[in-house]
Amino acid sequence: MYKLEHNYFPAADCEFPQSETGKFKFIDLFAGIGGFRLAMQSVGGTCVFSSEWNKDSQTTYFDNFGEFPAGDITKIYENDIPEHDVLCAGFPCQPFSLAGVSARTSLNTAHGFACETQGTLFFDVMRIVAAKRPAVIFLENVKNLVRHDKGNTFAVIKKAIEELGYSFSYAVINAQTVVPQKRERCYIVCLRDSPVKFEFPDFQGKPIPLKTILDPNVPETFTISDKLWAGHQRRTATNLARGAGFTAFCADIEKPANTLVARYWKDGKECLVPQQNKNPRMLTPRECARLQGYPESFRIPASKAAAYRQFGNSVALPVVTKIAEKIFNHLMEIKLCNLAPIKN
Ligand SMILES: C[S@@+](CC[C@H](N)C(=O)[O-])C[C@H]1O[C@@H](n2cnc3c(N)ncnc32)[C@H](O)[C@@H]1O
Repeated sequence: MYKLEHNYFPAADCEFPQSETGKFKFIDLFAGIGGFRLAMQSVGGTCVFSSEWNKDSQTTYFDNFGEFPAGDITKIYENDIPEHDVLCAGFPCQPFSLAGVSARTSLNTAHGFACETQGTLFFDVMRIVAAKRPAVIFLENVKNLVRHDKGNTFAVIKKAIEELGYSFSYAVINAQTVVPQKRERCYIVCLRDSPVKFEFPDFQGKPIPLKTILDPNVPETFTISDKLWAGHQRRTATNLARGAGFTAFCADIEKPANTLVARYWKDGKECLVPQQNKNPRMLTPRECARLQGYPESFRIPASKAAAYRQFGNSVALPVVTKIAEKIFNHLMEIKLCNLAPIKN
């Protein structure tokens, strides 16, 4: 453990400054580029602590929020973290995701909680909850978290949270009705000492087509090469014949895109945009930002690979914002905030 350094740099020209005296306080763990932060700030929250260890993500976070997140959460002493009302954490999903589990199984390495580097980070969240007892815990992870290890992983998570005196609610939500992307994620909201459980907002509706966020004129550099396109087609045909593995198709722009993932920068196979009389193209980083519902003014990194990775790892902003509105209303009900509730 190391003593937490003062990490707040008030940057006058950051894109999303926050009020020092918000309606409630929150912390942003595994902050990435600040998807939770944008949502919580939009309902009047003030961020009092953030943690993210990836240098590129820290830079993007600083450009947008004027604050460098603290680093490795496992090295931060829980009592050094300021008091807060809401704890937000999109803890790393690779040990629990379907792709992560099958890759680790084939390499004969541990997954889930047994993965020593990333699987135990949930328990770092729990030691902060035990010390600080925020009114609300707000977590996000892959949908496979619910089924991982035949449901045992999820049962351990639920039990650990309930033992600390919180109600436990979760929902698997597909973001496709609020962004043009199929993105199913597990959201967990837990309320301290509450006789009622959190009720998630409704995400029913028509899926949004990919074409709504595409730029009409995209530089040629985004068109994939003949070699890459031929390789995609060859491997797709082989894998379809054997019934498993990599497939790459042009997207149907009348439908939502496939889930954006951190590896998208490698070859774009998850979402290739069809073009007339030429090879398909990759999405631009700005289009990826839109797929996650980020505002146009969000500053994206100069490095394309970093930008793709960061948006692939991020949350679908309109989903977390709608949940944040309900969390704010709960804080009102328990009188942690004294302003008017947000109408959905
Ligand atoms: C799924 S992403 C969360 C993305 C975030 N919710 C957003 O909106 O951008 C998980 C993040 O946890 C970070 N991370 C992983 N291990 C960490 C650790 N020990 N300490 C701090 N951050 C860590 C990763 O770098 C990654 O950015």
